[in-house]
Amino acid sequence: MTYQRYLVTGGAGFIGSHFLHLLLRERPQAQVAMLDKLTYAGNPANLGDLLADPRFQWIRGDITEQRLVEAICREFNVEVLVNFAAESHVDRSLIEADSFIHTDIVGTYALLEVASRWPLARYTQISTDEVYGEVLSGAADEEAPLAPRSPYSASKGAADLLVHGYTERHGLDSIIVRGSNNFGPAQYPEKFLPLCITNALEGLPLPIYGDGLQMRDWIYVEDFCAGILTAIEHGSAGAVYNVGAGTPRTNIEVARHLLRRLGRGEELIEYVSDRPGHDRRYSIDSTKLRGLGWTPQHEFWPAIDQTIAWYQEHRDWWEPIRSSFEFRRWWRRNYEERAIPSPESSVLSPGGSPTGTGDLGLGT
Ligand code: NAD
Ligand code: DAU
Repeated sequence: MTYQRYLVTGGAGFIGSHFLHLLLRERPQAQVAMLDKLTYAGNPANLGDLLADPRFQWIRGDITEQRLVEAICREFNVEVLVNFAAESHVDRSLIEADSFIHTDIVGTYALLEVASRWPLARYTQISTDEVYGEVLSGAADEEAPLAPRSPYSASKGAADLLVHGYTERHGLDSIIVRGSNNFGPAQYPEKFLPLCITNALEGLPLPIYGDGLQMRDWIYVEDFCAGILTAIEHGSAGAVYNVGAGTPRTNIEVARHLLRRLGRGEELIEYVSDRPGHDRRYSIDSTKLRGLGWTPQHEFWPAIDQTIAWYQEHRDWWEPIRSSFEFRRWWRRNYEERAIPSPESSVLSPGGSPTGTGDLGLGT
């Protein structure tokens, strides 16, 4: 089923902005409203040419504001709501969980309240493989029990349970899409891959938690977004769909690859104290979504290299973020005790690291 009128929340963030571009490219008839609070992770620059697209309108606001969400549904006669809005960084949830409870749980509740009153054709909750907890062997399918192990994953699991509750109680047409670790252009550089790439570009150490042998089931963001659209258009009401590429890799092998591609030595690898309660391995089984015709289109290493190239070519995107007060504040809170030097020293000081040298080994 193809829908026309969408409300997408959290669309100024990493995955949401890729989804908006994909949706309006693949479904030229679509009309899209976007609601985003613009937290530290929201960035209008991610919207690019959509800002001038007559099919697209965005509103700055908080998903917990039911009256605002209801007004948007009315104004745009919304058929499908896709909820990307969230606090999304595990390490932050270990230090300051309030905003996770506010947005991931209360925000989802607010959207579901509106959805129970407004005749939505489909409610879509963007969730995560982290709700299954660590998967030490094999792969979790959609029937696996929820066993979250961080405030972030607990808040996402709570949201999923709310979606189930509103679906049962109010007959809501809902789907839940659980993605694995996404990577690609325009990911806020607190997350492992963009953090390591931008640190390497500046000649700074790559902080590897614990022994670096934790595994993540990486998926290129375009593949995840295509999976979400498939689930929206072809998924069954009330169903959950896992979306992973099935390519688990250890953090250390990914870090070593980045360094090689950037012409940097392994002396930049810095083992630091581990994330408390660090999930050792994630792995999900996406057979159910593949049954609807979706398959990932990007191979892991070439997509990683494309991503590295994007960060090399878009210093104008990440340098202002890394030199912002918010980023430096986060850096101090999470890395100071781990004795990793601050990016300020290289971004801000003229005599610092090789910013802008261009000769980083990736070639043309
Ligand atoms: P992100 O942190 O890059 O973006 C989150 C966006 O939500 C930002 O634009 C932010 O401004 C907005 N936002 C936050 N609180 C809000 C509020 N109260 N009201 C309105 N907007 C608000 O996140 P992301 O990595 O793009 O993740 C998007 C979604 O996908 C999240 O729900 C996340 O849990 C899920 N997910 C992420 C990954 C991943 O690897 N990044 C994997 C699976 C699932
Ligand atoms: O699995 C899906 C989840 O993937 C999403 O739901 C989350 O929103 C997203 O942030 C991501 O969570 P992770 O905790 O897996 O991603 P992160 O990039 O923070 O870390 C990836 C791995 O790298 C993890 O094992 C921790 C490790 N790591 C991370 C950082 C930031 C380090 O070794 N050093 C670091 O400095």
